[in-house]
Amino acid sequence: MNSTVASPDTLLAQCQVVYDSLLLSIDFSEPRFRCALACVAFNPIFWNIAARLEYSTHILTKIAGGAKRGCYLLALTIFSLGIGRDYMYEQALRLQDTSPYMQCDALVYLGYAAIGLGQLLVLTSMYQLGITGTYLGDYFGILMDSRVTAFPFNVSNNPMYQGSTLSFLGMALVAGKPAGLVVAAAVHLMYAIALWFEEPFTAKIYARRDQQRGDKKLQ
Ligand SMILES: *[C@@H]1O[C@H](CO)[C@@H](O)[C@H](O)[C@H]1NC(C)=O
Ligand SMILES: *[C@@H]1O[C@H](CO)[C@@H](O)[C@H](O)[C@H]1NC(C)=O
Repeated sequence: MNSTVASPDTLLAQCQVVYDSLLLSIDFSEPRFRCALACVAFNPIFWNIAARLEYSTHILTKIAGGAKRGCYLLALTIFSLGIGRDYMYEQALRLQDTSPYMQCDALVYLGYAAIGLGQLLVLTSMYQLGITGTYLGDYFGILMDSRVTAFPFNVSNNPMYQGSTLSFLGMALVAGKPAGLVVAAAVHLMYAIALWFEEPFTAKIYARRDQQRGDKKLQ
Protein backbone atom coordinates (compact mmCIF):
# COMPACT_ATOMS: atom_id res chain seq x y z
CA MET A 1 0.00 0.00 0.00
CA ASN A 2 1.27 3.50 -0.84
CA SER A 3 1.33 5.85 2.02
CA THR A 4 1.28 9.62 1.50
CA VAL A 5 3.27 10.13 4.70
CA ALA A 6 6.97 9.51 4.33
CA SER A 7 8.43 7.02 6.77
CA PRO A 8 10.76 8.48 9.42
CA ASP A 9 13.72 6.89 7.67
CA THR A 10 12.95 8.55 4.34
CA LEU A 11 12.34 11.86 6.08
CA LEU A 12 15.66 11.61 7.86
CA ALA A 13 17.40 10.71 4.61
CA GLN A 14 15.81 13.71 2.89
CA CYS A 15 16.90 16.02 5.69
CA GLN A 16 20.40 14.64 5.36
CA VAL A 17 20.38 15.40 1.63
CA VAL A 18 19.23 18.99 2.21
CA TYR A 19 21.72 19.50 5.03
CA ASP A 20 24.61 18.13 2.97
CA SER A 21 23.64 20.26 0.02
CA LEU A 22 23.46 23.43 2.14
CA LEU A 23 26.79 22.67 3.78
CA LEU A 24 28.50 21.74 0.52
CA SER A 25 27.45 24.99 -1.10
CA ILE A 26 29.50 26.94 1.46
CA ASP A 27 33.06 27.82 0.47
CA PHE A 28 34.72 27.89 3.88
CA SER A 29 38.12 28.69 2.38
CA GLU A 30 37.04 31.89 0.62
CA PRO A 31 39.12 34.72 2.16
CA ARG A 32 36.33 37.27 2.52
CA PHE A 33 34.09 34.74 4.19
CA ARG A 34 36.88 34.01 6.65
CA CYS A 35 37.48 37.70 7.12
CA ALA A 36 33.77 38.28 7.83
CA LEU A 37 33.84 35.52 10.46
CA ALA A 38 37.02 37.00 11.94
CA CYS A 39 35.36 40.44 12.18
CA VAL A 40 32.30 38.90 13.84
CA ALA A 41 34.56 37.31 16.46
CA PHE A 42 36.90 40.27 16.86
CA ASN A 43 34.47 43.14 17.44
CA PRO A 44 32.85 42.10 20.75
CA ILE A 45 36.20 40.86 22.05
CA PHE A 46 37.72 44.25 21.21
CA TRP A 47 35.02 46.35 22.87
CA ASN A 48 34.99 44.21 26.00
CA ILE A 49 38.74 44.51 26.41
CA ALA A 50 38.69 48.25 25.65
CA ALA A 51 35.82 48.86 28.09
CA ARG A 52 37.42 46.84 30.91
CA LEU A 53 40.69 48.63 30.32
CA GLU A 54 38.88 51.95 30.57
CA TYR A 55 37.14 50.86 33.75
CA SER A 56 40.36 49.88 35.49
CA THR A 57 42.79 52.50 34.08
CA HIS A 58 40.57 55.29 32.61
CA ILE A 59 42.86 55.21 29.61
CA LEU A 60 40.23 56.39 27.10
CA THR A 61 39.08 59.15 29.44
CA LYS A 62 42.69 60.35 29.64
CA ILE A 63 43.29 60.12 25.89
CA ALA A 64 40.10 61.99 24.99
CA GLY A 65 40.20 64.39 27.94
CA GLY A 66 36.94 63.47 29.66
CA ALA A 67 34.68 60.49 30.33
CA LYS A 68 31.99 61.53 27.88
CA ARG A 69 34.47 62.25 25.11
CA GLY A 70 36.25 58.98 25.85
CA CYS A 71 32.96 57.15 25.47
CA TYR A 72 32.26 58.94 22.19
CA LEU A 73 35.69 57.88 20.98
CA LEU A 74 34.92 54.26 21.83
CA ALA A 75 31.47 54.60 20.26
CA LEU A 76 32.98 55.89 17.03
CA THR A 77 35.51 53.05 16.99
CA ILE A 78 32.91 50.34 17.65
CA PHE A 79 30.55 51.87 15.09
CA SER A 80 33.30 51.92 12.45
CA LEU A 81 34.29 48.34 13.21
CA GLY A 82 30.62 47.41 12.82
CA ILE A 83 30.45 49.07 9.40
CA GLY A 84 33.60 47.21 8.36
CA ARG A 85 32.10 43.92 9.53
CA ASP A 86 28.81 44.52 7.72
CA TYR A 87 30.65 45.48 4.54
CA MET A 88 32.81 42.36 4.71
CA TYR A 89 29.70 40.23 5.29
CA GLU A 90 28.00 41.70 2.23
CA GLN A 91 31.10 41.14 0.10
CA ALA A 92 31.51 37.59 1.39
CA LEU A 93 27.86 36.75 0.64
CA ARG A 94 28.25 37.86 -2.97
CA LEU A 95 31.02 35.32 -3.52
CA GLN A 96 29.11 32.40 -1.98
CA ASP A 97 26.71 30.07 -3.77
CA THR A 98 22.97 30.37 -3.49
CA SER A 99 21.21 27.17 -2.53
CA PRO A 100 18.16 25.92 -4.45
CA TYR A 101 16.74 24.87 -1.09
CA MET A 102 16.77 28.47 0.10
CA GLN A 103 15.33 30.01 -3.05
CA CYS A 104 11.67 30.35 -2.29
CA ASP A 105 9.49 33.42 -1.87
CA ALA A 106 8.48 32.52 1.67
CA LEU A 107 12.10 32.57 2.88
CA VAL A 108 12.79 35.84 1.08
CA TYR A 109 9.77 37.48 2.78
CA LEU A 110 10.85 35.99 6.09
CA GLY A 111 14.29 37.47 5.47
CA TYR A 112 12.90 40.96 4.83
CA ALA A 113 10.75 40.67 7.96
CA ALA A 114 13.82 39.67 9.99
CA ILE A 115 15.81 42.64 8.66
CA GLY A 116 12.93 45.01 9.36
CA LEU A 117 12.39 43.73 12.89
CA GLY A 118 16.13 43.66 13.51
CA GLN A 119 16.62 47.28 12.44
CA LEU A 120 13.58 48.34 14.48
CA LEU A 121 15.10 46.75 17.60
CA VAL A 122 18.54 48.24 17.00
CA LEU A 123 17.36 51.77 16.21
CA THR A 124 14.74 52.02 18.97
CA SER A 125 17.14 50.67 21.55
CA MET A 126 19.75 53.21 20.47
CA TYR A 127 17.08 55.91 20.72
CA GLN A 128 16.19 54.83 24.27
CA LEU A 129 19.76 54.48 25.53
CA GLY A 130 21.48 57.34 23.73
CA ILE A 131 25.09 57.10 22.60
CA THR A 132 26.72 56.65 26.00
CA GLY A 133 24.06 54.15 27.09
CA THR A 134 24.50 52.13 23.91
CA TYR A 135 28.27 52.20 23.81
CA LEU A 136 29.35 51.01 27.25
CA GLY A 137 29.08 54.37 29.03
CA ASP A 138 28.74 52.55 32.35
CA TYR A 139 32.39 51.52 32.11
CA PHE A 140 33.22 55.24 32.01
CA GLY A 141 31.10 55.94 35.07
CA ILE A 142 28.29 57.38 32.93
CA LEU A 143 25.28 55.53 34.32
CA MET A 144 21.61 55.62 33.40
CA ASP A 145 19.35 57.07 36.11
CA SER A 146 17.11 54.05 36.05
CA ARG A 147 16.60 50.91 34.05
CA VAL A 148 14.92 51.57 30.69
CA THR A 149 11.70 49.57 30.45
CA ALA A 150 10.08 51.21 27.41
CA PHE A 151 9.97 49.51 23.99
CA PRO A 152 12.06 47.69 22.83
CA PHE A 153 13.17 46.77 26.34
CA ASN A 154 9.70 45.49 27.20
CA VAL A 155 10.02 42.80 24.52
CA SER A 156 13.73 41.97 24.68
CA ASN A 157 16.50 42.13 27.28
CA ASN A 158 19.14 42.71 24.64
CA PRO A 159 17.40 44.35 21.67
CA MET A 160 20.68 45.63 20.24
CA TYR A 161 22.25 42.20 20.00
CA GLN A 162 19.08 40.39 18.98
CA GLY A 163 18.31 43.02 16.36
CA SER A 164 21.80 42.76 14.91
CA THR A 165 21.62 38.95 14.78
CA LEU A 166 18.21 39.14 13.08
CA SER A 167 19.63 41.49 10.44
CA PHE A 168 22.44 39.06 9.62
CA LEU A 169 19.98 36.18 9.44
CA GLY A 170 17.61 38.20 7.27
CA MET A 171 20.33 39.07 4.76
CA ALA A 172 21.26 35.40 4.46
CA LEU A 173 17.62 34.46 3.84
CA VAL A 174 16.99 37.22 1.31
CA ALA A 175 20.13 36.25 -0.62
CA GLY A 176 19.42 32.53 -0.28
CA LYS A 177 22.98 31.85 0.86
CA PRO A 178 23.69 29.09 3.37
CA ALA A 179 27.07 30.73 4.13
CA GLY A 180 25.13 33.67 5.56
CA LEU A 181 23.40 31.34 8.02
CA VAL A 182 26.82 30.30 9.33
CA VAL A 183 27.84 33.94 9.83
CA ALA A 184 24.50 34.73 11.52
CA ALA A 185 25.02 31.77 13.87
CA ALA A 186 28.53 33.06 14.64
CA VAL A 187 27.10 36.51 15.42
CA HIS A 188 24.59 34.93 17.79
CA LEU A 189 27.31 32.89 19.49
CA MET A 190 29.63 35.87 19.92
CA TYR A 191 26.88 38.03 21.42
CA ALA A 192 25.95 35.22 23.80
CA ILE A 193 29.58 35.04 24.93
CA ALA A 194 29.79 38.85 25.17
CA LEU A 195 26.66 38.98 27.36
CA TRP A 196 28.17 36.34 29.60
CA PHE A 197 30.96 38.83 30.36
CA GLU A 198 29.00 42.07 30.17
CA GLU A 199 25.83 41.38 32.15
CA PRO A 200 27.40 40.51 35.51
CA PHE A 201 29.89 43.38 35.16
CA THR A 202 27.18 45.94 34.40
CA ALA A 203 25.11 44.58 37.29
CA LYS A 204 28.13 45.05 39.57
CA ILE A 205 28.68 48.65 38.43
CA TYR A 206 25.03 49.55 39.09
CA ALA A 207 24.93 47.68 42.40
CA ARG A 208 27.93 49.73 43.55
CA ARG A 209 26.23 52.96 42.48
CA ASP A 210 23.00 52.03 44.27
CA GLN A 211 24.96 51.20 47.40
CA GLN A 212 26.73 54.57 47.27
CA ARG A 213 23.39 56.31 46.81
CA GLY A 214 22.08 54.46 49.83
CA ASP A 215 25.13 55.47 51.85
CA LYS A 216 24.60 59.12 50.90
CA LYS A 217 20.97 59.00 51.99
CA LEU A 218 21.99 57.64 55.37
CA GLN A 219 24.55 60.40 55.97
C1 LIG B 1 2.62 2.99 -5.46
O1 LIG B 1 3.33 4.09 -6.06
C2 LIG B 1 4.13 3.72 -7.17
C3 LIG B 1 4.95 4.93 -7.61
O2 LIG B 1 4.42 6.10 -7.14
C4 LIG B 1 3.22 3.16 -8.26
O3 LIG B 1 3.99 2.79 -9.39
C5 LIG B 1 2.45 1.98 -7.74
O4 LIG B 1 1.55 1.53 -8.70
C6 LIG B 1 1.69 2.36 -6.46
N1 LIG B 1 1.07 1.16 -5.87
C7 LIG B 1 -0.16 1.15 -5.40
C8 LIG B 1 -0.60 -0.12 -4.78
O5 LIG B 1 -0.88 2.12 -5.47
C1 LIG C 1 5.88 47.35 24.70
O1 LIG C 1 5.69 48.74 24.51
C2 LIG C 1 5.03 49.08 23.31
C3 LIG C 1 5.06 50.61 23.17
O2 LIG C 1 4.77 51.25 24.34
C4 LIG C 1 3.62 48.52 23.34
O3 LIG C 1 2.93 48.86 22.15
C5 LIG C 1 3.73 47.00 23.47
O4 LIG C 1 2.44 46.43 23.57
C6 LIG C 1 4.56 46.61 24.67
N1 LIG C 1 4.77 45.20 24.66
C7 LIG C 1 4.68 44.40 25.74
C8 LIG C 1 4.94 42.96 25.56
O5 LIG C 1 4.42 44.86 26.84
